[in-house]
Amino acid sequence: MRIGAEIGGVDLRRPPAGQQLAEVQRAIAEHQVIFFRDQPLSHDQLKAFGRSFGELIFHSSVAGLPDHPEVVAIHADAQSKYIAGEDWHSDLTCDAIPPMGSILYLHTVPETGGDTLFASMYAAYEALSSRMKAYLEGLTAEHDGNHVYRPLFPDLDRQYPCSVHPVVRTHPVTGRKGLFVNGSYTTRIVGMPKAESDAILGFLYQHVTNPNFHVRFRWRPHSVAFWDNRCTQHLAVWDYFPQTRSGFRVTIGGDKPV
Ligand code: SIN
Repeated sequence: MRIGAEIGGVDLRRPPAGQQLAEVQRAIAEHQVIFFRDQPLSHDQLKAFGRSFGELIFHSSVAGLPDHPEVVAIHADAQSKYIAGEDWHSDLTCDAIPPMGSILYLHTVPETGGDTLFASMYAAYEALSSRMKAYLEGLTAEHDGNHVYRPLFPDLDRQYPCSVHPVVRTHPVTGRKGLFVNGSYTTRIVGMPKAESDAILGFLYQHVTNPNFHVRFRWRPHSVAFWDNRCTQHLAVWDYFPQTRSGFRVTIGGDKPV
């Protein structure tokens, strides 16, 4: 398998330390997204687990819970008009320093559906021809939060982050190269005519949808997914309306993509 591993025998209510922490760190580096079952987590326990891997950040565009501002609710039900993460993306690439990773805990899941797909950006990059890899080398692209968040929050008159990052980034832990453009945030390749930029990005977005690069996670109540945002994209499938799917997410600070 190119991406994804389920890990058993750990109780996330106590943050991992010592050898167990090292093993989880090794697992996320190797598998890019890891899954845990049967982990009923309070907000404090979710935050403590996240803090084992770095500083938690406040979502730059979506408000957290009043008493736990680092925790964002992920919720959909019969009243929902949209859900979070319905298109392929890595989290908050509009930020100048996009997050290292995110941890999603769902306590309530629909009877059927509501899976999350994860795609390996290492696999997507490695499957490109050497000519395409050479073409992309050194290019940068703009990632804009405005077209993502303004339509969701039309009453808020605010500017959302917009940043420029390399099209191919090198992972700071593994040293592997991965594609770092996504159809949600990335708007253009810098210094390129619009038609050419649109065509290249369109090709790359299509390329990422190849199921050979994916793992599909089927949630159960109290499952947890922890993904490395630097080498993956994900997509939440909204095929369960009007059922309820509900939980909480924390986001771990990252590093400037290079
Ligand atoms: C997200 O994009 O963070 C949401 C993922 C999900 O709900 O499965």
